[in-house]
Amino acid sequence: MAPSVLVVCLGNICRSPMGEAVLTHVGKERGLDLTVDSAGTSRYHIGEDPDDRTIAACRKHNVPIQHAARQVTEEDFRRFTHILAADEANLHSLEQKKPRNATAEVRLWGSYLDNKPIADPYYGGTRDFEECYQQCVKLSNAFLDEVVGK
Ligand code: 4NP
Repeated sequence: MAPSVLVVCLGNICRSPMGEAVLTHVGKERGLDLTVDSAGTSRYHIGEDPDDRTIAACRKHNVPIQHAARQVTEEDFRRFTHILAADEANLHSLEQKKPRNATAEVRLWGSYLDNKPIADPYYGGTRDFEECYQQCVKLSNAFLDEVVGK
């Protein structure tokens, strides 16, 4: 069965909507019709479009992106097979929010590759968003290699 994946960061406007877009794209390239969504641990940007710099990085690589920011819900822990945290702080927030009847596997996304967090590009510049993009590509491949197979 194809995995259903929720990518999670703090604001759900930079890293996780980019991760959602890239994982969907990489899945399509592999012929997979994945269910992918993203959410934030915070309420800061609920309802907002992805950050302009996130959209620009995806556009540059011809990766479609469309998302309205939302906060993680308890229901997410049952709806998705995998919840992928961008960094350790996000993972900690998720562990605190996780209900007893959760079925999703909740992991640092980087744990599928090199255990590195995705650095928050929000206070950075174009280069940081490009780095974030490249990391999302590598992490998407590492995740799919392990969970779906090469
Ligand atoms: P994200 O980046 O977690 O990758 O979406 C951030 C967006 C907004 C804020 C922090 C990080 N903020 O503090 O508003």
